[in-house]
Amino acid sequence: MVSRSLACRRVVPSLRNSSWSSLPKFGGCWRYTSQAASSLLQACEPSVYSTRKEEDEYADVDWDNLGFGLMPTDYMYQMKCAQNGTFERGQVRPYGNIELSPSAGVLNYGQGLFEGLKAYRKENGSLLLFRPVQNAIRMKVGADRMCMPAPSVEQFVDAVRETALANKRWVPPPGKGSLYIRPLLMGSGPILGLAPAPEFTFLIYASPVSTYFKEGTAPLSLYIENEFDRASRGGTGGIKTITNYAPVLKALSRAKSRGFSDVLYLDSVDKKNLEEASSCNIFVLKGNVLATPATKGTILSGITRKSIIEISRDLGYQVEERAIPVEELMEAEEVFCTGTAVVVASVGSVTYKDKRIEFGTGAQTACRRLYDILVGIQMGHIKDKYGWVMEIN
Ligand SMILES: Cc1ncc(COP(=O)(O)O)c(C=O)c1O
Repeated sequence: MVSRSLACRRVVPSLRNSSWSSLPKFGGCWRYTSQAASSLLQACEPSVYSTRKEEDEYADVDWDNLGFGLMPTDYMYQMKCAQNGTFERGQVRPYGNIELSPSAGVLNYGQGLFEGLKAYRKENGSLLLFRPVQNAIRMKVGADRMCMPAPSVEQFVDAVRETALANKRWVPPPGKGSLYIRPLLMGSGPILGLAPAPEFTFLIYASPVSTYFKEGTAPLSLYIENEFDRASRGGTGGIKTITNYAPVLKALSRAKSRGFSDVLYLDSVDKKNLEEASSCNIFVLKGNVLATPATKGTILSGITRKSIIEISRDLGYQVEERAIPVEELMEAEEVFCTGTAVVVASVGSVTYKDKRIEFGTGAQTACRRLYDILVGIQMGHIKDKYGWVMEIN
């Protein structure tokens, strides 16, 4: 790994509504000729900012052995919002710890949301983002539920774009993985009595990643959880709040210690219908019918889920979004999970009340076909007729 010091970094200012490719490079800074020029020049001014590391095309990473662990990159993005609900202009700044009051809303009452999306490197060197507008919209919906103001869709997408470009040397070579981008929104202001925080922070960091599960691309073994619930009706299961995740750690660690890859949750009322796994949605295939649990507030409306539904319909599958009883899963020919991190992951077996059922896996499955198409679009190998991919450079 390259050791990173401040002296190796160039401060990258916020360049809303501008194209990086149009900015001529000047003396180690990007020269910018609009109103943002003064802030840019200020940001570039100190001579301590050399471009040495940024001139390297790639960070010093063993790209063949990437997993899904945190590898800090050069920059993160930060944008604050005061009580009036307006986000001030954000800034790309060196990656590092942030300061929070001990009474910050997020620390005391869990007022926080996160998102996750990926940037892929194309053979021609530019980067591809997958449906970032969808993440921006989902964050807005979640923020409303959590009583937080959210960045506008434009602010969100610009911030993601700037973060990805600033960390470009951490984006794996084509075919070796992607840069996982993690936007956060939190109540960062101090509060004692239960109420929304008086100040909010939007933050983005990133990490190069490859496959999510330790199994790599091998089929997953899921455990159906009968004791713990993931979400309840009227709760927050349908949004990406941080408070949905710590409560599943118990079930997840228990399942992992027993050799399972992940947990599949059931509805909390009847313990009868499938919901989703800890960090991904689920699909069940029998014949030409591809079924997935309907999104009615207790499961996350995954962007990968949405994309796979559209691709599958175009391929001629009859896609049904509805309740799926466990018994139906047990009769399935194929089962797979979808998510930004897991992509489209084949499920080899599901265990329910000590009964283990196996499903079709391998090269000839619908799961593999859908994976190939989705990843082909995400990496720019397959023509994107849906308009999902955003090329940035
Ligand atoms: C609980 C949960 N379900 C589903 C998903 C999949 O969503 P997406 O496809 O938008 O990544 C995720 C991942 O973010 C998740 O955390």
